[in-house]
Amino acid sequence: MTTLRQSIQSSRTRPDALPASVPFASTGHPGSLLGISDLSLDQITGTLTRASLLESEDPLARAHRLAKRRIALLFYESSTRTRTSFELAAKSLGCDTTLVSSLSSSIEKGETLKDTGLTLRALGAEAIILRHPNSGAPWLLEQSTGLPVLNAGDGMHEHPSQALLDLRTILACLGLGAETAIAANTLAGVTVTITGDILHSRVARSNMLLLPRLGARVQLCGPPALLPDLAAQAGPGITIERDFDHALAQSHIVMMLRIQAERLAGLQLDLDEYRQRYQLTVERLAAHPSVAHVLHPGPIIRGLELTAEVADGPQSRILDQVRNGVAIRMALVERALTATRSGATQ
Ligand code: NCD
Repeated sequence: MTTLRQSIQSSRTRPDALPASVPFASTGHPGSLLGISDLSLDQITGTLTRASLLESEDPLARAHRLAKRRIALLFYESSTRTRTSFELAAKSLGCDTTLVSSLSSSIEKGETLKDTGLTLRALGAEAIILRHPNSGAPWLLEQSTGLPVLNAGDGMHEHPSQALLDLRTILACLGLGAETAIAANTLAGVTVTITGDILHSRVARSNMLLLPRLGARVQLCGPPALLPDLAAQAGPGITIERDFDHALAQSHIVMMLRIQAERLAGLQLDLDEYRQRYQLTVERLAAHPSVAHVLHPGPIIRGLELTAEVADGPQSRILDQVRNGVAIRMALVERALTATRSGATQ
């Protein structure tokens, strides 16, 4: 038996249950994106449209849009895709960016989030992109600095820019163009199955809050240790199906998730059993032809939640998700620096 065991002694705590509703409300800066529910369907349409426009724009013209505006990336957790795509997005618009990560800054010396945020503001940062292990940290940072904050993942809570790039990917999978107006029935009749470590996944949570608003059915699949029964109460349009093959038989899109070993906090899993029950293989995909597209937010662990053949296969949209991240984050950075209280952009 292969056992994955990880204990973490930190300020992170495992929630006993997934909350049924969004526990934080955004009252702050109109350019912030703290949780996915902050955005109306019209604002989501606007963000997707803007992402496409910026993506197709001449790079030299685009670099004048926010020339020399200052963006700080404040990362208390490791990141490859999210950090790099936010940074490239901001630079594409002409911004100066600076990265502060917990391992090479005064955070190591005990500086609080508030003091680090105030320091970045004093250094001229006009917006902060924050990744933090504690749920709710972006709300605290916005409150204490008054700056627009983009949540790049807070603990086990939310990852709203990922949900938007996943939506852009899903719309493309369905052949819906960038100009599609997002409405309550845009994804009617579409079933998305999210499989794996739902409990620890801020990606799953933001998608669970977003996709049903567009009419999608979201099916959650995984063992009870990684998917408590209560998750089905996270909102309308969400169901649990423990049998992966049954779930796939009813799905059009499957989103695979990594087991977040760093957050398991002593929980033990039999990985051989996990692979047997939940690993996405070419055989499983072939047995369920309704599943046309495979998504994964990354990082992928080849040979665990999915096989290398699936990751590299024709149904994999994993690298499309990465590409879509840059376009979506350009729109979010622009919104952060130009949104006004009336909801308009300058
Ligand atoms: C995820 C995250 O950090 O929440 N990755 C991402 O941002 N693309 C998922 C993970 O770490 O497994």
